[in-house]
Parts: sequence; C-alpha cells; structure tokens
Amino acid sequence: MKITKICCIGAGYVGGPTMAVIAEKCPHIKVTVVDLNEKRIAAWNDVNVDNIPVYEPGLGEIVGKARGKNLFFSTEVDKAIDEAELIFISVNTPTKTYGTGKGMAADLKYIELCARQIARVSKTDKIIVEKSTLPVRTAEAIKSILDNTGNGVQFQILSNPEFLAEGTAVEDLLSPDRVLIGGETSPEGQKAIEALVDVYANWVPRERILKTNVWSSELSKLTANAFLAQRVSSINAISELCEKTEADVNEVAKAIGMDSRIGSKFLKASVGFGGSCFQKDILNLVYISKAFGLNEVADYWEQVIIMNDHQKRRFSRNIVQTLYNTVSGKKITFLGWAFKKDTNDTRESAAIYVADDLINEQANIGLFDPKVPFQQVLSDLDYLETRSSEENQKYINSFENPYEACKDAHAVAILTEWDEFKDYDWQKIYDNMLKPAFIFDGRNILDAAKMKEIGFVYQAIGS
Ligand code: NAD
Ligand code: UGA
Repeated sequence: MKITKICCIGAGYVGGPTMAVIAEKCPHIKVTVVDLNEKRIAAWNDVNVDNIPVYEPGLGEIVGKARGKNLFFSTEVDKAIDEAELIFISVNTPTKTYGTGKGMAADLKYIELCARQIARVSKTDKIIVEKSTLPVRTAEAIKSILDNTGNGVQFQILSNPEFLAEGTAVEDLLSPDRVLIGGETSPEGQKAIEALVDVYANWVPRERILKTNVWSSELSKLTANAFLAQRVSSINAISELCEKTEADVNEVAKAIGMDSRIGSKFLKASVGFGGSCFQKDILNLVYISKAFGLNEVADYWEQVIIMNDHQKRRFSRNIVQTLYNTVSGKKITFLGWAFKKDTNDTRESAAIYVADDLINEQANIGLFDPKVPFQQVLSDLDYLETRSSEENQKYINSFENPYEACKDAHAVAILTEWDEFKDYDWQKIYDNMLKPAFIFDGRNILDAAKMKEIGFVYQAIGS
C-alpha cells in the first residue's frame, strides 16, 4: 500500500514537529494535523512562523516551507480522518487525576475518543498508528473499539512511539537513532508495517527502522524513558553524597562516563528532571507492574521518582537553610522556568516545585525565562492548588530583562540551563544584588571559580 494522505490527531509537541518533518521529507504525501484546540491550530497557521505554539530550534523554518503545500493544520478532524490512508494518534496521555489509578495510571480517555471518532468516520480501510506513549497492550483496546463500532472497514493498528527530546526535536526527527514500528505478525499486519517503513525510508536509513511485535514496541517506549530517567536519578543520588564528601559530581560523571559500558550521556546532575513524560511514564510502568502483582518491579522503578522528588525538595530546602533559615520577604530570582533549555514547555518543570516550596516560606520570587510567558508560570503554580491564584501572584514577578530580575535580590537560583545565562555580565549582576550575594546553580552551568572571585557565595549541585 502506498501512502499518499496522512492525518495526525493532536497538534502538540509531538504531532506538530513530527508531521512537519514527514511533510518536508515526503513532498508526495499530503499531511494534515488536526486538533480540537482552535487556538493551537490558529497558532500553527500564523503567518509569522515565530508564533507557532511549539518553540523548537529549526522548526519554524520547516513549517514555513511545507505549510500550505503538503502540510496543513486544521480543526476539521472528521474530514482529515476520512481522507487519510494512515492516521497517527498523537494526543496527550497524562497521568490520571481521578478514580482508579489516580496519580499513577495513564489517562486514556483522549485515545478512546480518537478511536471512536475514527471508527465512526472511516469508510475505507485504514492504518492506525499509536504515536502517543501508551501502556503496553493498549492496541488491544483500540482494536476492540474500532472493530466493534466501525462501519465494517478493516483497521490495522501499529505502534510507532516517538523518541524525540524537546529542544532537539528537529535534529532528533531528521536523524533518529532508530524508528520503532510494532505490528501484528499476520500478513496484513506486516503489510501495514511496510507501508509505514516506506514513509520513514524517505530519509531514515532502513537499517535504523526496527520492526517488532506491537507489545514490544509499546513497552520499549516506557522502558526507554524509565532507563533515561533512572540515569538522572542515579547521578543525582550520587550528587548528594558528593556534597558530603568533597567529591565533585562532574568529575565522577566524567570518570564513570568514559567507561563505554556506561557511556557519557545523560549523566548531568541537576535540580531534578522535569518534562511531561519521564514521571508520567514511570508512574505508568509502576502501575502496570503492580496490576500484574509484580511488587518488586514496581518498587524498583518507583524509587526513580522518589529520588527526583527528593532532589527538587532538597534544592529549595538548601536555599532556605543557606539564607540563614529564613527567606520570608526576601527576593530570590529564578533564571529559567522551562523544564530544560531550548523549549517553551514547562510541564513538570523542577522550577514549579522549587517556587512552590519557597512561596510557602514567603519568599518573593523574581523570574526571567527567555521563552516562557508569565501567564504560563502563573497557571503552573495555580495547577498545584497550594494557594489561591491571587496569592501566587503576590509572591512571583516576571521581568523582561535578566538584570532587572536580579536587581536587589538576595539570591539567584538557576533552574534551566539556557546557554545565554553563562554569558551574562555576572559582575554587573553581583553589583546590583544584596550582600552577601548567593547563587544556587541547579544546573552546574556557571564557572565556580569565576563566581567566587566576583564575590558570590556560589553553590552548585554535587560539589
Ligand atoms: P500535547 O498535550 O502537547 O498535545 C496533544 C494534543 O492533542 C493537544 O493539542 C490536544 O488538544 C490534542 N487532543 C487531545 N484529544 C484530542 C482529540 N480527541 N481530537 C483532537 N485533538 C485532541 O502532548 P505531546 O507532548 O505532543 O504528547 C503527545 C503524546 O506523545 C503523549 O502520549 C506523550 O507521552 C508522547 N510523547 C511526548 C514527547 C514530548 O517530548 N512531548 C515525546 C515522545 C512522546
Ligand atoms: C525525554 C526523552 O529524552 C525522549 O527520548 C522522549 O521521547 C521524551 O522524554 C518523551 O517521551 O517525552 P524530554 O523530556 O523532552 O525527552 O527531554 P530530556 O532531554 O530527556 O530531559 C528530561 C529532563 O531530564 C529535563 O528536565 C532535563 O533537564 C533532565 N536531565 C536530562 C538532567 O537533569 N540530566 C541529564 O543528564 C539529562
């Protein structure tokens, strides 16, 4: 089967960039990305590509080139489903906030809605691709809905999880380590797999396209995220030990990372990992394991989250302790709110939790982030429901300029590793702060010796 029309349901951080790259690399395929969120679709269609809703280096350019030619963003979901031979489901799968599995399981209501809509609308055979991250065996549920509520047409379900990281999405999509496609072992399943392989093979070398059964593919996605997050929690655990023993976590990371069995990537100690997926996916893995009665497996992975929560909390606790056990009424400036550099995404960012702790201590937070709008910051804090929205607004202020943000502060806390923070005029920042002037570098990006020379009391993670 030759694919000529693709529909992607969900125009978020995955759907948008992924489809933009497919459209650019496959000029013979019409790609339509649909979403219920009208504002989001309007932003994707903004004539000025600087206003598209996802900030990713290089993305605006690709969208600008393909949009209107073979890349379309629309709210007409039924029409796009009807036309397409292949449909990616790329909707959000957040942690459940109610009922059974609350706080642990993935909420699959958006997935089910998509399946029911596809079944209702489809008048021709289609390949349905799980792009969202899903619990192992979700394809079974999707198949049951499609087969029981459809119009008698045939559906093949594939799992094709996405491994891109935010901030490097375009790079990751253009040159992925691998593309994973899981499908049924039947001849029809294999045919569907090959149809999707042919799409990716327009730019991904075939030897990097891995074919498995559906369940291996679904589980590999959760496993990959669990392993990645586990490395961050492991090095963060060691960072606390370093602080007690005069070992330096950067030196330890380098020393162990040179062992090719360990590898050097993903060993940066930090204030704790954030992002929409690591925590959600591990909680989901823990929930699934418990559901199968595998308590030791569940406890093993849960520890990754426990360590991460501890790392965030001890960062804020250390700020309070170091500032003479009180931050009440003191200005503490956050540089960075995004969960990592080069993205405007703030979901589960460590900054949110550190701010919440410090506001509990009545600190006044000053904030500068190069890409995150202040409205988003407020809504992140409100989402925690620790206090009223009015109160949150009393305790946090955003600045257009980093120097203004740091002026008259008792301390600066670095929460995101934006490159530009390294190049600031730190002498100027020091001169305008209250003394002693403290820096809490939650990302280990500043030069410790230089900061101390200027006069800062400088504290990093793990040294
Ligand atoms: P997102 O929240 O940015 O986007 C999801 C979009 O789906 C939203 O715009 C929402 O309005 C839309 N949507 C929900 N239900 C819909 C429906 N029934 N019809 C039409 N649109 C609907 O989420 P995301 O970050 O793009 O993540 C999507 C999935 O991909 C998740 O399962 C996530 O775990 C996975 N994933 C995310 C990343 C990442 O870096 N963000 C990477 C790999 C995998
Ligand atoms: C992660 C994975 O890297 C992707 O492969 C996956 O597709 C994605 O999750 C997903 O499923 O959503 P992402 O969360 O976008 O990507 O970004 P990462 O680079 O993995 O960073 C996650 C968090 O860990 C960030 O807060 C980052 O600052 C932190 N981190 C990462 C560290 O603290 N230290 C490190 O060494 C690496």
